[in-house]
Amino acid sequence: MSIKRILRGLEGYTMTIEEIKAKLENVLSAKRYKHSLRVMDTAVELAEKYGEDIEKARLAGLVHDCVRDIKGEHLLELCREYNVDVDNITKAQPELLHGPLGAEYIKSVYDVNDNEISKAIYCHTTGCENMNLLDKIIFIADYVEPGRNFPGVDEARRLAFEDIDEAMIYALDRTIKFVMDKGSLIHPDTVRARNYIIFHKNKNNKI
Ligand SMILES: [Fe+2]
Ligand SMILES: [Fe+2]
Repeated sequence: MSIKRILRGLEGYTMTIEEIKAKLENVLSAKRYKHSLRVMDTAVELAEKYGEDIEKARLAGLVHDCVRDIKGEHLLELCREYNVDVDNITKAQPELLHGPLGAEYIKSVYDVNDNEISKAIYCHTTGCENMNLLDKIIFIADYVEPGRNFPGVDEARRLAFEDIDEAMIYALDRTIKFVMDKGSLIHPDTVRARNYIIFHKNKNNKI
């Protein structure tokens, strides 16, 4: 069945994936739009590998950065409009807001009304506690898509298709170290994401 028919056949989706792509291409920079397509493709590959819903992974990957190019006062205005919390950390690093804002924005602007997709977008930059498989797939697809080029990316790609939890720990550790080295604030959700996965990887740890 075509994507078009799958989307049209599901409750909560009124735009086709082609219509969503056309809209994104209009509002994102060319670089960001191409990144979004690569995240979409990588998310699909990871969903196939780990048995996640492929169409949810495809759609979440495609729209994950839909508000990433909105900056400054306009970004803060939209956060107020969509009731997105702005705390001291996100005030100091407003680029972190594109996850929580995107999670709400997709509902009204892209007609994507799916709580799982919204949650995956909410936590794709910082991570969060208790990430499910779709959350991890979008986070890691964003981290290892083929356009990424940073020291250690090959290892991250290898882990992504071998053990997604190990890939998450690798990515979160590197993110925390990178933020510390810059002297920036560490978002508590990044620490919570890391601790939760490490705690639950050890089968002896029970809550
Ligand atoms: Fe992002
Ligand atoms: Fe991204």
